[in-house]
Amino acid sequence: MNRKNLNAFLAAGLSSAMSLGIAAPPGTGQTPDSKPSAVHHSSAGSLENWWKNAVIYEIYPRSFQDSNGDGIGDLNGITAHLDYLQKLGVDAIWITPCYPSPQVDFGYDISDYEAIDPQYGTMADFDRLVAEAKKHNIRVVMDMVMNHSSDKHKWFLESRSSRDNPKRNWYVWRDGKGETATDKGQPPNNWQSDFGHSAWEWDEKTRQYYYHKFYIQQPDFNWNNPAVEKAFDDILNFWMKKGVAGFRFDAITTLFEDPQWRDDKELKDKEGKTYLNAYGDVALDDAMTNNLPQVYDVLQHVRKVEDSVNPNTFPGRRVMIGETYVPTVKDLLNMYGTKEKPEFELPMDTQLGFINKLNVATFRSKLDDVETKIEGNEPLLVFDNHDNPRIDARYGDGVHDTDITRVISTILFASRGTSLFYYGAELGMKTTPPTRKDDVKDPVGLTGWPKDKGRDGERTPMQWDDSVNAGFSKAKPWLPVPPNKAEINVKAEESDPNSLLNWYEALIKLKKTNPAFLSGENVMLNTDDPKVLSWLRRGSDHSAVVVATNFTAEPQTVNLSAASAGVSGTKVKTLLKTPGAADPISIDKVELPAFGVYIGEVQ
Ligand code: NOJ
Repeated sequence: MNRKNLNAFLAAGLSSAMSLGIAAPPGTGQTPDSKPSAVHHSSAGSLENWWKNAVIYEIYPRSFQDSNGDGIGDLNGITAHLDYLQKLGVDAIWITPCYPSPQVDFGYDISDYEAIDPQYGTMADFDRLVAEAKKHNIRVVMDMVMNHSSDKHKWFLESRSSRDNPKRNWYVWRDGKGETATDKGQPPNNWQSDFGHSAWEWDEKTRQYYYHKFYIQQPDFNWNNPAVEKAFDDILNFWMKKGVAGFRFDAITTLFEDPQWRDDKELKDKEGKTYLNAYGDVALDDAMTNNLPQVYDVLQHVRKVEDSVNPNTFPGRRVMIGETYVPTVKDLLNMYGTKEKPEFELPMDTQLGFINKLNVATFRSKLDDVETKIEGNEPLLVFDNHDNPRIDARYGDGVHDTDITRVISTILFASRGTSLFYYGAELGMKTTPPTRKDDVKDPVGLTGWPKDKGRDGERTPMQWDDSVNAGFSKAKPWLPVPPNKAEINVKAEESDPNSLLNWYEALIKLKKTNPAFLSGENVMLNTDDPKVLSWLRRGSDHSAVVVATNFTAEPQTVNLSAASAGVSGTKVKTLLKTPGAADPISIDKVELPAFGVYIGEVQ
């Protein structure tokens, strides 16, 4: 579920808390007993395959650490915390855009793709970050926004300067409907911006409309123009030469628009009526501007550019990570490409991570999908980012949020695949949306208020300690620090053995050291259980680890015998469990507290 769908979900009055513990009707959404499939070998640590089974940490640089006292986080602030990230077990950091930008969409409106925004530092600071990160064995992944630039980018300034400017065709320009010499007419069609209202903006000087999938200040590139592709080849090479380990490709599914410019269809509610979205617009699907197949050609081309870099020295293979909100697992598979025509190494599995509802059957079926339906490719699991409310707001019940986060993080790190998580998740940082429109910074919140308060709530400053501004900055932070900083902060959690931070660290350590986690496939256990999600990691060395996560607020007892999956052991040795939970005497009787987790090695 992307943010738009999430809003519709919440607007329908279904809070995630209300859905906790709902049992799936027998037989629905269940997967049959998984048959053993090919064992997946991980070569984590190698230059070629470092990204498999890796741990990637998303940093919103504006909110991580301010080093120069202006209330805004910066690159030197990230460099200052590399020890922390290394101790946590992070292999790579993905930094959301830190290029020069008018900051209308906080960096996703780029005005120069080959420089650093002075708010975040200098190119020398960037180079130092990459060099210091290397010393910590941490790779740096950049955000790459190829769908649109800022309207202040020199290319767009040229493009809008006249109809015959050589850059005119770098962006998407169209005549209006019924336009005359004196009247701008109507936009070319009904397409809407993801940030509300028409996706077409009238340009008085050249008397045409330009298309923007996102904010007005984010005009879309015309990807039918080969010059655009060439320009991005140069940008990618520029950063790869600087030693970045790859890119997270923003809004990649929206590069192309319907060549016939057809209208999008109106969505209907349960009664078959059209309805208004949070922005007050008639809700539409976006089939004409999203997930068009032409994008695969671009991905295959970009992959060739990345593959042209010698991977034999650090950071090794440059990887393509995709922001891939796609509707089905088949679409996700398409994002990997084929052996002959590879695309993303790591398209995000948003199918699992943004279900936003703790339902065992759905989680089981989505997890099984990436085990059995993506042809052995590496899943990229993710449950949070800077565009969606944090875990507490989507899965929490306000009472057991820490334990619920243990459940989610176990699924993230104890399943086969690469794990991506958002800064502060390891502390249990909570979504803290603005309470007054005047305080809103995100354009989405400004347009959507009060139905959609925007994304500020998940972008609040990192909570380092209990001091003023949580140790984030000496100045007033650009977004307020949540009041819970006294309990939820790095310093306090480091010294509490039962903290979420120590839980994350222990889980990541298991992921990287336990043989079954390093090389093991996922086999779902107890596939009819509507309350507990259990699975087996079966290593290529015959090691076996069972994992159980209680999705309910009541204690549960489960039988984790994995005989059906060919594992005959009956004894189990605890590797990790929710603090306070009992150690099982036998594999057939494992007791889980409310939202409890158990991980044990079968012996
Ligand atoms: C997705 C990014 O994650 C989001 O923050 C941004 O607003 C849009 N793409 C537009 O670039």
